[in-house]
Amino acid sequence: MKKSRPSPSTVVSRSGRFTDGPSQEVAQFSQSVSFDWRLWSHDLVGSMAHATMLEKIGVLSSKECQDIIAGLKGIGMEIEAGRFQWKQELEDVHMNIEAALTARVPAAAKLHTARSRNDQVALDVRLWLRDEIEALLGELRGLQRSLVKLGERHPEVIIPGYTHLQRAQPVFFAHHCLAYVEMFDRDTGRLADAFGRLNVCPLGAGAIAGSTLPLDREFVATLLGFTDAKGRPRITQNSMDAVSDRDFLIEFSAAAALIAVHLSRLSEDLILWASSEFGFIRIADAYTTGSSLMPQKKNPDIAELTRGKSGRVIGNLVSLLVLLKGLPMTYNRDLQEDKERLFDTADTIRSCVRLTAAMLDHTSVQAAACDAAAKDPLLLATDLADYLVKKGMPFRQAHHAVGAVVAFAEKAGRRIDQLTLAEYQAIEPRFSGDVLELYDLQKAMKRRELPGAPGVRQVARQLARWKKELGTLG
Ligand code: ARG
Repeated sequence: MKKSRPSPSTVVSRSGRFTDGPSQEVAQFSQSVSFDWRLWSHDLVGSMAHATMLEKIGVLSSKECQDIIAGLKGIGMEIEAGRFQWKQELEDVHMNIEAALTARVPAAAKLHTARSRNDQVALDVRLWLRDEIEALLGELRGLQRSLVKLGERHPEVIIPGYTHLQRAQPVFFAHHCLAYVEMFDRDTGRLADAFGRLNVCPLGAGAIAGSTLPLDREFVATLLGFTDAKGRPRITQNSMDAVSDRDFLIEFSAAAALIAVHLSRLSEDLILWASSEFGFIRIADAYTTGSSLMPQKKNPDIAELTRGKSGRVIGNLVSLLVLLKGLPMTYNRDLQEDKERLFDTADTIRSCVRLTAAMLDHTSVQAAACDAAAKDPLLLATDLADYLVKKGMPFRQAHHAVGAVVAFAEKAGRRIDQLTLAEYQAIEPRFSGDVLELYDLQKAMKRRELPGAPGVRQVARQLARWKKELGTLG
């Protein structure tokens, strides 16, 4: 969609108590239209609902209301077509649209009745953020689907699971993918939760103290979809809170920061796995870049940038918290500074989620490298301790005995599955003939069948559950 961007201008026109306009430098410093122009469609929708309500309570005639709505629609078409003249001296998106409307519809002078830019901007941002959250929820589901598909493409592949980045115990590759599906599921819940709290209409709060006119706040709220599950209107209950509250931005930004952290951790796994040292995956060329100097290089830039951009999203959250921290009630112009941080967070997180999903769709698992790493018998040292526990030995003692086996093998320069039964029994007599069977990895994966564990049946069950939940069955 083509959008017109505001261009700087030196013309200054203000009215009422001001005799002097601000200097160009002041206008430039205080304008927000260069970034808040993107609230235009929500500003139009809010104004149309406000006009409809003003007609209902008799402030506007039906002709005036129709003219205003037609005028707003015309402005919308101009903006969409990139023909609208944004003027910096008109400060923000609200004044630009109002001025344009007033120039073409005389009744526009009545539109701002019982409305302030304070409740108007609070409304616009809520409307904008509602759409943004819905779009992000869709992208997150896409990412979850990509993770499930990646795991499903390689259901038999086993890799070492790591703690402290040291090999720990074997897991199915799919189990690792599904760990991220769980994280993004919690993120989805947090966003939905934030949505519920922000979906309350502030219009009617005016500048700070409502209005002496008999506005129908519930009517506007219903028109704008600020309703609960039963369709009842939801309106803010304190006019001062309504114009100064930016909690909903913080909640969204916090949810986004956590998504960014999850993406960053996923990126880190992918970067490690794509290295020659691991070699577990290959990322398609389209999602990597070469080096300008070293001809052999294939760098996982998309994953690295996603990891890097998480810093921006986290920083934006902190900026917003600091922005609010010292503000006395109620609206203060400082609040204008919220938008660039909010927009940056929304744009960054959405592109990171989308690009990560696309990259995963173009990533292949290198089964041979995974197998080689997963065959390390030390990954089953805990199984060996459990074996002794099943024979009645207290776990701490079993842990010690297996530690002695590992140390013995290390000293002998052999793998623990290459020791003889006699050597095992010399360390601990309770080891018997079946001990070496323990290292059969396929069998080992069948032993891990607690709910949530990476066993064969458990992982298959989880994959099926997520496919159903994400609508990717069939
Ligand atoms: N551009 C302003 C903002 O984003 C709109 C509200 C201005 N209100 C005011 N009283 N100056 O916060």
